[in-house]
Amino acid sequence: MKAVIPAAGLGTRFLPATKAQPKEMLPVFNKPTIQYVVEEAVSSGIDDILIITGKGKRSIEDHFDRSFELEYSLQNSGKTDYLKEIESISEMADIYYVRQKKQRGLGDAISCAQKHIDGEPFAVLLGDTIAQSEIPCIKQLMNVHEKYKSTVIAIEEVPDERIERYGIIKGNKINDNLYKIDDLVEKPKLEDSPSNLGIIGRYILAPEIFDYINEVSPGVGGEIQLTDALRLLNESYGCIFKGKLYDIGNTVDWLKSSIEIALEHEEVREELKDYLLKILQ
Ligand code: G1P
Repeated sequence: MKAVIPAAGLGTRFLPATKAQPKEMLPVFNKPTIQYVVEEAVSSGIDDILIITGKGKRSIEDHFDRSFELEYSLQNSGKTDYLKEIESISEMADIYYVRQKKQRGLGDAISCAQKHIDGEPFAVLLGDTIAQSEIPCIKQLMNVHEKYKSTVIAIEEVPDERIERYGIIKGNKINDNLYKIDDLVEKPKLEDSPSNLGIIGRYILAPEIFDYINEVSPGVGGEIQLTDALRLLNESYGCIFKGKLYDIGNTVDWLKSSIEIALEHEEVREELKDYLLKILQ
């Protein structure tokens, strides 16, 4: 299965940090956010990844490319651990790029993948979330897809105050982790929301989605919404994600996620913990 990672957004919520660099390259502890997402796809067995980029996103391509000068210099200075890590980034997967030429929303960004996908079901991973779990999030969806052979969307229960930030599904429970989806709404008001099950940015999509993306009119924010195209699909499933999600869609959540992920690293945990306790006294 191929994966698509949309990375064409302007990163407005991170300005001015994203004036001259893509938000996908902002680090979470020691890695750019997009690397976590690529690693999730790779550890799910996906080795063909299409990143939808746009203007000003070239550093993403450089990040996943080889860097001969850097490798040479690390080799000469005997920094072999760094060297290994740097080399492994460029060997992770076959990564392809296509540019979205106009900012017309997530649905439109996905439609840029149509030729590359070539009529097969495919995975989509959005970069606003880092998902950590024993079985990678997209692999959890692939497992459901294998059984039901249709579109599968990762969902989680979201608190009331965050409903307006998500696509929300309405579904019939099949079992504790799985819903058959009846309807979806993009960023509803709390009082209009059909449930508290939010779409977390991981999908396995049937290729028919491209036809429906072409059919929908601009929705929330005047953008072509993937959620609106998903409403038109005959059959889709919502799968509750089993694992931990780190939201990095805005500066505060990004900072919280960075701290939490840093705390998972043994080499800095104690120092960071002491520091946090000290400044909070
Ligand atoms: C997108 C989707 C939305 C989903 C969200 C998850 O919205 O349109 O349905 O819930 O990602 O992060 P965005 O956050 O890009 O506005």
